[in-house]
Amino acid sequence: MHCTVLSDRTILLVISGGIAAYKSLDLIRRLRDQGAVVRCVLTKGGSQFVTPLSVSALASERVYEDLFSLNDESEMGHIQLSRESDIIVVAPATADLMAKMAGGVADDLASTVLLASNKPIMIAPSMNTEMWNHPATQRNLKQLIADGVTVIGPGSGDLACGEVGAGRMIGVDEIVSAVEAKLCEGAVAIDAPLKGVRALVTSGPTHEAIDPVRFISNRSSGKQGHAIAAALRAAGADVVLVSGPTNLPDPVGVTTVHAESALEMEAACREALPVGVAICAAAVADWRPKAFAPGKIKKGAEIPKFEMVENPDILAGLSAAGSSRPALVIGFAAETSDVINEAKRKRARKGCDWIIANDVSAAAGVIGGDNNTVHVIDESSVESWPVLSKVEVASRIVARVAKYFLGATAEQDSQRTGA
Ligand code: CTP
Repeated sequence: MHCTVLSDRTILLVISGGIAAYKSLDLIRRLRDQGAVVRCVLTKGGSQFVTPLSVSALASERVYEDLFSLNDESEMGHIQLSRESDIIVVAPATADLMAKMAGGVADDLASTVLLASNKPIMIAPSMNTEMWNHPATQRNLKQLIADGVTVIGPGSGDLACGEVGAGRMIGVDEIVSAVEAKLCEGAVAIDAPLKGVRALVTSGPTHEAIDPVRFISNRSSGKQGHAIAAALRAAGADVVLVSGPTNLPDPVGVTTVHAESALEMEAACREALPVGVAICAAAVADWRPKAFAPGKIKKGAEIPKFEMVENPDILAGLSAAGSSRPALVIGFAAETSDVINEAKRKRARKGCDWIIANDVSAAAGVIGGDNNTVHVIDESSVESWPVLSKVEVASRIVARVAKYFLGATAEQDSQRTGA
């Protein structure tokens, strides 16, 4: 199970009328799987996309829809709805609801609850890209951020309306991680086993520039590394995420440093030291073009040949950092055959403590996908985990890291006390 930060927390989920409302059904399930109580407010628009029955069946709670319903008010008034929650999450957040929030409008149950709230509010916007980019929406967004609302997403890509661009509601995994991180902020965390531990995570691909418009890269999405950073944060660690170019939002509560190339990523990692634990999940390009062409290379009779040079190995560098070496260095091993043996050799070669081996052959669907099947290899053991979501893999890795640090503390204590 994920860090217990969501256990017994009450989350008020406001579902407004966007096509992404169907994803909120999965969000309810995922939050409840982590032990949260999920109470839902469905706007009139929201009920055009998902039915009150499906929402209440998944939440195992009645759904609140009407500001002036005698029943709703007698059972749970709008003030109480917000008071009795630990956090309010609006997913999807339409342009209309964002506008109401920014303007302090309270003309239905959702907007009234939001205005009456004294709890942290997070919104996951979802709309057509032109609506998102419209100066009015951007103005409202700025206002909401200034009012202390946490905004997660939106992502970019194909939209339901057929257009392409920013406006897609961020994935359910990212919303769950962001809620966890938000609840961990300050002293809210019930269980923060990594409180006081500084952590460094690398994530995503690198871009190795050929000329101003071209680069060499790989298919890494950064989902696994970002999920690890969020899970470390949820466990109370102070996290620096060094991220290559991805489409993911910066995890809430994590210091994110953006790096383009392997050289930039390496410099950012060095800058982040000292840390207690380093987890290298980035798919760093092994080579870069020896020369960068400052002008665009023009198409001519000759097909260009590129001389490549090797990039620094960030993981091996951290493992051999002498007095700055993190107490625990964890790498990943992306393999396509003989996965466990190749990973064991990689662990020894790179000098890290644990290596997390995964099969990245096309058939496994790991690269860019939401699931991962991994083997955790340390000096003396190989632990094979079942197919899990990347968020669950992150959570289990962090649980193992927490166990390591708790063990280390117990050992220091016993050395100190001579027990
Ligand atoms: N890694 C790194 N810096 C590099 C290359 C890899 O920090 N320049 C890290 C990755 O983040 C990962 C581990 O090393 O934690 C293994 O990466 P992987 O791509 O599996 O291995 P490579 O070193 O690229 O070796 P090979 O291509 O031969 O499998």
